[in-house]
Formats: sequence, structure tokens, C-alpha cells
Amino acid sequence: VLTKFQKDCATPIPFLRNVADAISDDMRAGLAVEGGGDLDMILTFVDALPSGNEEGLFYALDLGGTNFRVRSVQLGGKEERVVANESEQFSIPHELMVGTSEELFGFIASKLADFVAKEKPGRFRLEQGRKREIGFTFSFPVKQTSIDSGTLIKWTKGFNVSGMEGKNVVACLNKAMEAHRLDMRVSALVNDGVGTLAGARYWDEDVMVGVILGTGTNACYVEQKNAIPKLQSKFSSGTTIINTEWGGFSKILPRTIFDQEMDEESLNPGEHCHQFLYCFFTVWVWIKLYEKMISGMYLGEIVRRVLLQMCETSDLFGQFVPVKLSTPFALRTEDLCKMQEDNTDDLVTVGSFLHNFLEVEANLKARRRVVEVCDTVVQRGGRLAGAGIVAILEKIEKDTDRMASGQRTVVAMDGALYEKYPQYRRYMQDALVELLGHHLSSHVAIKHTKDVSGLGAALLAATNSIY
Ligand code: BG6
Ligand code: GLC
Repeated sequence: VLTKFQKDCATPIPFLRNVADAISDDMRAGLAVEGGGDLDMILTFVDALPSGNEEGLFYALDLGGTNFRVRSVQLGGKEERVVANESEQFSIPHELMVGTSEELFGFIASKLADFVAKEKPGRFRLEQGRKREIGFTFSFPVKQTSIDSGTLIKWTKGFNVSGMEGKNVVACLNKAMEAHRLDMRVSALVNDGVGTLAGARYWDEDVMVGVILGTGTNACYVEQKNAIPKLQSKFSSGTTIINTEWGGFSKILPRTIFDQEMDEESLNPGEHCHQFLYCFFTVWVWIKLYEKMISGMYLGEIVRRVLLQMCETSDLFGQFVPVKLSTPFALRTEDLCKMQEDNTDDLVTVGSFLHNFLEVEANLKARRRVVEVCDTVVQRGGRLAGAGIVAILEKIEKDTDRMASGQRTVVAMDGALYEKYPQYRRYMQDALVELLGHHLSSHVAIKHTKDVSGLGAALLAATNSIY
């Protein structure tokens, strides 16, 4: 089982090159026409990134990662930048992730109402006659209809709130805010990749890409408007931000039986989505295979499935098949990280983890095999993520020649997987250098910009303020 699995997961450079090229092709296809490729290449209506001149009090809501966050930011313009900044975070109870939109948005509005009620008037100043404005980071695929509205295309990452797909996300929030007598206005609705890009750009103007490697994954980047045929505008000059929704990439990725079974049993299995667009039907396949191979929600689950089969067919732990291995999502990606970081000769940490988690006394050979499975899955994930970043950098490079002319290009990264899994980061970085070559990659900086997406959303609310 293990040898075949390792072979099926191999990511030699020629294969990664093909992946990067196929992602680039799908980026172009998605820019040409809606549903043109695996990547949605969503128009975000973010044409202006933060300049540093933003002023005033703005709020941010952030939904879609491990935590839900509320934030307020007092922006003081070029000199003072962030004058005051307060935030709170909450975990979303699981029943709200799979309940009704009234329950989910009611929860969000109630936390926001408590937050505003606790505000210290001295620290935060709202100009007279203004409503409180919000930048809403909603980390799911949304078909934007303007900077401050958009409809949910599909839930991802374990969320499955009923009756919301196809609905206007901002209208759902507005309704809940009204019920809580909150007189606030959403001035920007953004994806977390867009928020990360905007927040990071506020401090560093070389930031061109925002990448999320967390529960899910995504990348957003600065694109030239004249390279977007589907904009169909005669006045296409300047730049705009594209939300690639790259998690949907699926071509040429070799699916092992474990990937296939995990997909089939997931909340969002590969399926056909139909959308009525520009007076004709487009049909696209929604598989999210790339996301399921590289992001935090799924790596542990793939390993669990491989280990279960190794127990059942090649006696990994003798005749013993631990019950826990039959529980979906019982093994978490952070457990893999813990095991991979064990550098003792006897793999002591791995042994005690397996003892506590699976109630098994694993001998050294079994411990090694477990670590090999983790490494195989994490190596494939990290390297595929590297190929995706290269595809985006090369697309930017083709249009701008930035890196060849020595200009620094920054990729702002966020998400718990990137932050907390050093071995994953190394695999990603290695693939990036191997694919881009030393010359180009020496002009690329990968910067961990933790939690800046809230700031980014607040800044975009300021840029798009109605006042
Ligand atoms: C956060 C963003 O910083 O990173 C979220 O603000 C995003 O919107 C997240 O989803 C990724 O987090 P996680 O918890 O999935 O690793
Ligand atoms: C999922 C969502 C996407 C989000 C990403 C990272 O892929 O579809 O919108 O940006 O997760 O949170």
C-alpha cells in the first residue's frame, strides 16, 4: 500500500512544471470567459489598493477560518497609519456551520453588537453624521456584483448553511444587523485572500499576491485590466484584484483512491454547477481537488484513510485495527506536524501519540511507516502549493517583467497551515525555487502576514466609503 501510495503522490519537477502550466492556462481561460477553466477567476471590484491616506473609524468582520473575528480600526492617514485597533475572536459553534443563515448571521450580528457596545469613546472617533462602515471578509467563493455585494456560489471547508447558495451575503448580514438594531453599513465585501493582499499592501507596496494556506486555500493577485477579456470594457486600463479560487483546480492532478473516497464523502463532493450568466448557461465542474490535496482541513484525513487501509491489508500494527482510525477527520493536520517534528532516534513522540490517539503500542518500524505516510501527503501538498504560487508569479511576470528587471515581488501569506507546519513550508519553498530558478526566485519574498485580512477589509471599506 505504502509504496504504491508514495509512487502515486510523487511530485517530480517535470510534473510540477505541468501543474504550474495547467494552472496558468486555466487562469487565462477563466479570465477570458465565466466558467472558462477550473479556476473561477472572480472579479472582485477592488481596483484601488490601500494608499496609506485612509482616515476614520472602520470595522471588520472576518468569517470563514478557524475563528470568527470582529475588529475596529482608527485610521490616521499617511503619518499615523493605525491609531487605534481593537479586536475580538470567537470560534463558531459547529451547529451554526451547518444550521440556517438566520442562526449564523444572528450570531455574527450579536457579537458585533456586543463589540460596538463595549467601545471606548475616547479611543475611537466616528465623524458626525456618518454610519459605522464595515469591511466584511467572507472566506468563501462569492460571485461579486459590486464591491459591497455578492452571492455565495458554494459553501466550502465544512460549512453547509442551508438555503444560502445563490443568496446575497450582505443582505443576510443586513437583515441580522437590523434585528439587532445595528445601524451599520457594509462598504466592502472581500475574500480573505483579497483582505490579506490589501492589508499587507498597506505596509509594503511590493505585495502583488495574497495566499491563504489554512483550513482551505486560495490566492488573489493584482491583474492588468487589459488582460481580462471577460471585463468587456472599452476602458480597461489600470489594475484590479482577481480572486482565483484556485482550490477548484483539478486537471492533471492524479487522484489516489484515498483522495477519491474522501471527495465522495465530503460535504462538497465533485459536482456540476449550473449558472445562468450573460444569457447563456455555463456548466462547470466543481471539484476542489487542489484544495483537498493541499489545505489544512484535508491532509490529516488523507493520512487517516491510508493508515486505515494499511492496517486492514498490510498489518501496520499486527492484527490490530484501531477503532479511532474509522472516524472521519479524527486525525488532524496538526497531529501530522507533531509526528513529523519528532527527531528522536526511537520516534518517542510518534510512539506516545499513537498510544494516546489509537491505543496502540507501535514498534519502531510501524512508527517509521506512519511518519512516511505523513511525509508523503505533506510533501505532495506543499509542493503542489509551490507550483500554484509559481503559476501566479509567472502570470504577473509575463505582463510586467517585474522580477526580470530586479523588482521585488512579495507574496503575502496567511493561514494556520502555513504558520504552524514548518515542513510543509519547506516543501513549498523548495518547489518554488526549483520551478522559478534562482535568478527569479531571488526577487520573490514570501512574507507571513498574520491576521492582516481584517485590516485589509477595513481599509477597503475606507477606500470605498460612501462618504
Ligand atoms: C485569517 C483570515 O487571517 O486567515 C481568515 O482573516 C482566513 O479569513 C484565515 O480564512 C485562514 O485561517 P485558518 O483558520 O483557516 O487557518
Ligand atoms: C476556500 C474558499 C475560498 C477561501 C479559501 C481560504 O477555498 O472557497 O474562498 O479564500 O478557502 O480560506
